[in-house]
Amino acid sequence: MLNKQKGIVVGDNYYLTYNEIHRTIRNLADRILDSDFNPDVIVVIGTGGFIPARIIRTFIDRPILTVGLQHYNKENRPTEIPRKIQWIDEVEKKLPGKKVLLVDEVDDTRVTLEYCLNELLRHKPAEIAVAVLANKRKKKTGVIPDKISRYYVGKEPDDRWICYPWDADDIDEQDRRSNHDL
Ligand code: G4P
Ligand code: MG
Repeated sequence: MLNKQKGIVVGDNYYLTYNEIHRTIRNLADRILDSDFNPDVIVVIGTGGFIPARIIRTFIDRPILTVGLQHYNKENRPTEIPRKIQWIDEVEKKLPGKKVLLVDEVDDTRVTLEYCLNELLRHKPAEIAVAVLANKRKKKTGVIPDKISRYYVGKEPDDRWICYPWDADDIDEQDRRSNHDL
């Protein structure tokens, strides 16, 4: 099982429920629509962005394209640059001139986001906006490129480890641990 929760002190973690995530994403989607950003396409950074992006699509119904990037290896250590697990030509063909909403679950170090944004910008989209479920309040290593002017955030938690329901062994225990203060 993939378990990113190992070795972490339980009391220091944020535990999220699916319902909290859904409510947060709905609020985020409302703000995107209110700001008059009207994307042509959603690009999701898998795997963490999958479920948030699918919830966004409930409110902003656009095609979802997927890129797979991994910054952590099997030992749960960050790799020097994020690794492309999947980067389909089709994604690149669909970007020129398009307004893109790039979705991920977390802005942590910002390294994955910087890497992904620079890769996508090479394909000359009209505009890219970023949406993340959580932007951790911390000093960032990565930089959001200047060309990115819209950045939508669901929550801005302290720099603590977030445990997502999709990583849970026991979803009922996950719900019980949820501390509702992200
Ligand atoms: P960033 O640009 O979005 O800040 O990402 P960064 O490179 O710093 O690292 C992203 C990786 O770290 C992602 O996993 C993400 O899920 C994981 N991560 C960062 N903070 C947390 C956290 O608080 N909780 C959990 N559960 N994961 C966290 P990845 O290896 O890139 O791949 P994937 O899990 O998205 O497939
Ligand atoms: Mg990710």
